[in-house]
Order: sequence, then C-alpha cells, then structure tokens
Amino acid sequence: MTRPASSNPFAMIQPGMADVTLTRDDMKFIATLVYEQAGIVIREHKEAMTRGRLARRVKALGMGSVAEYCAFLKTPQAAGELPELINAVTTNHTAFFRERHHFDHLRKDVMPRLLQERGGRRGRIRIWSAACSSGEEPYSIAASCRDVMGPRSDVDFKILATDIDTDILVRAEAGLYPAELFERLPGDVKPLLKLEGGAGRGEARIVEELRRMIAFKRLNLIEKWPMSGPFDVIFCRNVFIYFDTQTKASILDRFVALLAPGGFLYLGHSESLPQPHPKLRLIGRTIYERTA
Ligand SMILES: C[S@@+](CC[C@H](N)C(=O)[O-])C[C@H]1O[C@@H](n2cnc3c(N)ncnc32)[C@H](O)[C@@H]1O
Repeated sequence: MTRPASSNPFAMIQPGMADVTLTRDDMKFIATLVYEQAGIVIREHKEAMTRGRLARRVKALGMGSVAEYCAFLKTPQAAGELPELINAVTTNHTAFFRERHHFDHLRKDVMPRLLQERGGRRGRIRIWSAACSSGEEPYSIAASCRDVMGPRSDVDFKILATDIDTDILVRAEAGLYPAELFERLPGDVKPLLKLEGGAGRGEARIVEELRRMIAFKRLNLIEKWPMSGPFDVIFCRNVFIYFDTQTKASILDRFVALLAPGGFLYLGHSESLPQPHPKLRLIGRTIYERTA
C-alpha cells in the first residue's frame, strides 16, 4: 500500500509526482495575486480548478510542489513568472460565431450604415475585440465585415484584437485550427470564414486576406490602454464574468470614452452593465449603443 506523503488528508500526492496540495493560505495568496495582476476574481469553490492550473506551472518549472511554487512567487525573482501564472489561470473558452446575434447585427445593421457614411472617402472603421482569446471572435468579425465590404479599398478598416494571455495570442495570430471546428459551423456562415489550402492533416488555416485585417496585441484590461480610439464597435464578451463590480464599472467607463457616438458595445450572454450608464442604451440582446 502507498503511504500518504503528508498528514494532510487533502494532500494530492502520488509517488514520483509533484505535490499539488493547495493550502487555504496559498489559495488566498494566489487569488489576491491574480486579482491584483488581472482583475480576475478566483472564488473559493474554484480551488480544484486552480490547483490543476498551478500544477501545470509546477511541472513546467520542474518544482516539487504547489507550496514551493507559491513560495517562489513571493520572491523578487518571480517577476518574470507572473505573466505565466496569468496565462495558466485564464479561461479561454471561445468559438467561431459564438453568440451569433452579434455578428448578424454587425453584418446587417452596423456595417452597411458605416460603409454608407464612410465609404468613398477612405473613412476609418475600427472594431476592437477586447479579450479575443484564441482568435475565433476577431476572425468571425473579419469574415462578417469582409462579406459586407467585398474587395473595396475605399475604407480604412481595421480590427484590434487584444488579450492578457500571451500564449493564447500566439495561437490566435497563427489562425490555425482543427478543421472540424469549421465543419460544424452553420451553413450560412461557413463560407464566410475562408480557409487556406495546405495546412496540416486535420487542420485548416484562415486565409491571409482575413488575417491581415486584424492586429493582435497583448493588453491587460485593468491597466492603461495605449489606444485613443474612437472605435465603432467594441466586443467585450465573456470576460466581465471574471471581474468584480468595481473593475467592470471602471472598464466600462473607459469603453464608453473610446466608443464613437452611435457606436456599439457587445457583451457576453450572461453579462450586463454593472450599473446603468448615462451614455449607453440597450438596443438588443446584450447590444448597447453609445448615445452621445
Ligand atoms: C472566456 S474567454 C472569452 C473569449 C471571447 N471574447 C468569447 O466571448 O468567445 C475570456 C478571455 O479573457 C481574457 N482575459 C481575462 N482577464 C483579462 C484581462 N484583465 N485583460 C484582458 N484579457 C483578459 C482571457 O485571457 C480569455 O482569453
């Protein structure tokens, strides 16, 4: 019989493996650090998930335990590890044309109006995917807008796609995905996401024409933003759920300041404004228009 390596009944250790026991104090320490660095609130019931995610860093660094990793994070030498910790704790779940109604609104209502206003004079159209994860969201935006614009060159069109997670941004920028993700798409949007030939077996790559429409950058929503806007549309979906009311309210004020009057903010399906905003009007399912 294998003897338990620790007297702690919740110890997660097996012979030859790192000890991934996460004490209550270490859980508190990690939650505070992640909140300070990224605004993400890790609640107590997420302990098992947090332990699993920290275990990946413990393994990558060749350490013996989560306790050792937490002790290391408290040293000045750990500054370079903080982005890795944040990469490990973020949840990156996303999908092409997720929450389809936003893309329908963009394609049918927003883009035709913007092109009418700005086309012909090389007018600017700017869209921000703020928390773009592995790129499915900005590529769906690019595909939708490209469909409306066609090959016209009389507008200066760009999508900014940002995320805090540097690992996920590398994947997003590559535009390479399992082919089955495209196969499963509804028939009417499937042809919009044009794919390149020659990707590896079982993989498919977004064509360069769509990739070129997007600039991927690392940006932490709780830090200073370098952009001055204005944006015509901001997608900020399924990230507010990780923030507290105060963080959401402060980010929201900054979104409004960067949105053009008449511009739109799209939130995720389970998200709402932390409080009514005097310059935002709800005009559809999780679609807000900047009024003035
Ligand atoms: C669940 S994904 C949402 C992706 C996409 N917007 C969607 O709705 O499908 C949440 C993303 O938010 C990012 N994120 C979390 N905290 C962030 C922060 N402080 N600044 C920027 N991005 C953050 C995560 O890295 C993750 O990729």
